[in-house]
Amino acid sequence: MSVRRLAPEAVQPKEFTFTAENADWTKGQIAKYPPGRQASAVIPLLWKAQEQVGGWTPRRAIEEVAAMLGLPYIRVLEIATFYTMFNLAPVGRYHVQLCGTVPCHVCGALELKKICEERIGQQGEVTADGKFSWLEVECLGACCNAPMVQINYDYYEDLDPTNFGKLLDDLAAGRPVKTGSQTGRMCSEPLGGATTLADPSLYDGSRVGGWKTRFEETGQKEKEETGEQQPVKSSGEGGPAVPGSRNEVHIAQPASPKGLGVAPAGSPAGNAASPDEAVGTSKKPGNKSPRKR
Ligand code: FES
Repeated sequence: MSVRRLAPEAVQPKEFTFTAENADWTKGQIAKYPPGRQASAVIPLLWKAQEQVGGWTPRRAIEEVAAMLGLPYIRVLEIATFYTMFNLAPVGRYHVQLCGTVPCHVCGALELKKICEERIGQQGEVTADGKFSWLEVECLGACCNAPMVQINYDYYEDLDPTNFGKLLDDLAAGRPVKTGSQTGRMCSEPLGGATTLADPSLYDGSRVGGWKTRFEETGQKEKEETGEQQPVKSSGEGGPAVPGSRNEVHIAQPASPKGLGVAPAGSPAGNAASPDEAVGTSKKPGNKSPRKR
């Protein structure tokens, strides 16, 4: 990683204001956040400023964004100097961000770095024709396809000195280039092709509902092994009832003590204030009704 400093004053523009179109866009971004939280729009605004300037973020743009969001300049400067996505000095038409973090490093990023130094120059420099600049950055999240670089908005993965050199040649010559893996690998599948999830029945629909059959078979087998009685199924439910599941229906087994059956209407118990009083099902030892009979 390099030290992140603003470009020398000599290259800093004297003024920065958003174009009318971009100013409208920034208003939309700021409006996404609730009152008092407009500072959250700082990264989109810095990004739009960088796009407008042509790929880098000058001091005046940082000041403008700070003023628009009511933030101290230092808060926005901290953000602009922290994230390597904000270029603090002019860059080439093709700005190469080379990942130098461990997975890319052990897969050959050092060789790519050498190519950058030989063909482009030192980090932060722009080639004489204005076409290239480069920077070593931390992990860009494509470790499965290491080593890799990001050039402007696109990722180029599975690089080696040969295909990376060709990629730079093609860009310099204005030839079309392929983004993503440079070895023909599909996304981040294993080298040599996919080795899992390769069963065609996963994709032809024949497995639809298979989980239910397995579920029923397993449940039935367990019941046979344990000798458990089949619970009563509720109507409309296809699968076997599982203890505790929503399709198990418990039929209350009256185990009322002597004389505590449902009383006929009109009897004292039949006029009880609650079903509990009537059938006595909630009575526990020592939990007698306060009513005297
Ligand atoms: S380490 Fe290079 S992309 Fe993650």
